[in-house]
Amino acid sequence: MKALIAAGGHGNRLRPLTYTINKHLIPIANKPMIFYALEKIAETGIKEVGITLNPGDTIFPKAVGDGKKWGVKITYIEQIGGPLGLAHVVKVAEPFLKNDPFVFYLGDNIILSGIGGFIEKFKKEKLNCLLALSKVKDPERFGVPEIKDGKILKVEEKPQNPKSNFAVTGIYIYDHNVFGILKDLKPSARGELEISDLHSELISRGFKVGYSEITGWWKDTGKPYDLLDGNQLILSKIETKISPAAKIETGVVLQGNVIVGDNSEIRGKSLIRGPVIIGNSTIIQDAYIGPYTSIGDRVEIYGAEIDHSIVFDDVDINTDKRITDSLIGKNATITPVRETFPGGHKLIIGDNSQVEL
Ligand code: G1P
Repeated sequence: MKALIAAGGHGNRLRPLTYTINKHLIPIANKPMIFYALEKIAETGIKEVGITLNPGDTIFPKAVGDGKKWGVKITYIEQIGGPLGLAHVVKVAEPFLKNDPFVFYLGDNIILSGIGGFIEKFKKEKLNCLLALSKVKDPERFGVPEIKDGKILKVEEKPQNPKSNFAVTGIYIYDHNVFGILKDLKPSARGELEISDLHSELISRGFKVGYSEITGWWKDTGKPYDLLDGNQLILSKIETKISPAAKIETGVVLQGNVIVGDNSEIRGKSLIRGPVIIGNSTIIQDAYIGPYTSIGDRVEIYGAEIDHSIVFDDVDINTDKRITDSLIGKNATITPVRETFPGGHKLIIGDNSQVEL
């Protein structure tokens, strides 16, 4: 069995962050999001992994490498034509996948449990396709299955009137029969080859489409708040680990589970209330870092209170304000209003940013 990970796409809903970074490289608990998918796949013993990228993405392979880190071999596949839908991702990967069954994993999906059980079921029941489902409150955001007597009758993409409260998650298993169907699949009204149409077509042509429910946590990190949720999920599982090369001044209070990386310094009256992860070579002085916060490498924070947030690498924060539920991109600076005229908040903010003053 092989694996295919989708790591292209527009990332529209995560702008402005995705103007400068492939969304699958956005850090969650200080690790690029895509690493979580690779870990889940490597756990199953799969060795050959294809990753589809937008044409011209040279940064991603440099950041992720050849797969040795996870004991797999990664082949990068250009999604020729650009992001034309998830079924299109599978189509462009046919020369890599050939006749082998494969797990198709959307690189922006984060789950707690493993996927080994899904593969076992797929093999044992000799399925042509297995869909991993998850119960959700807002099925209209996803592909939604209509289920009767334990069988999926069809799958609708983002329906206004969902026929169940399940989402088809971004974890699918297929055999080579999908390629026959993909040859005839027509683009939807939004011009994309929809993965849900592929599933409905498999069913209507009589192929065996089964499903499993993801019992633990599942998150599609499509929107900014989902990233914070994903960060919270991962941080809730961390254990305390302070690098011997970190410097924590006496007077600093660490509560709960806290990770501090190499050469970072926590100074003054700081209170770090975990779960919190702090990267390498970061300085935190007289600040409060509250639960579910990830702070990247080479960050400097003076005086601020921050909780439930993701602070990327190389950020400078110097303020007496409280920052909450925030995503702060690489190299950003947040400073106090200068005591000179004209007063007021001076902002240099990229397109599609969101600020609450
Ligand atoms: C895609 C699929 C949808 C699926 C979802 C899972 O949606 O089209 O069927 O439920 O992934 O993450 P998107 O996140 O691209 O809107």
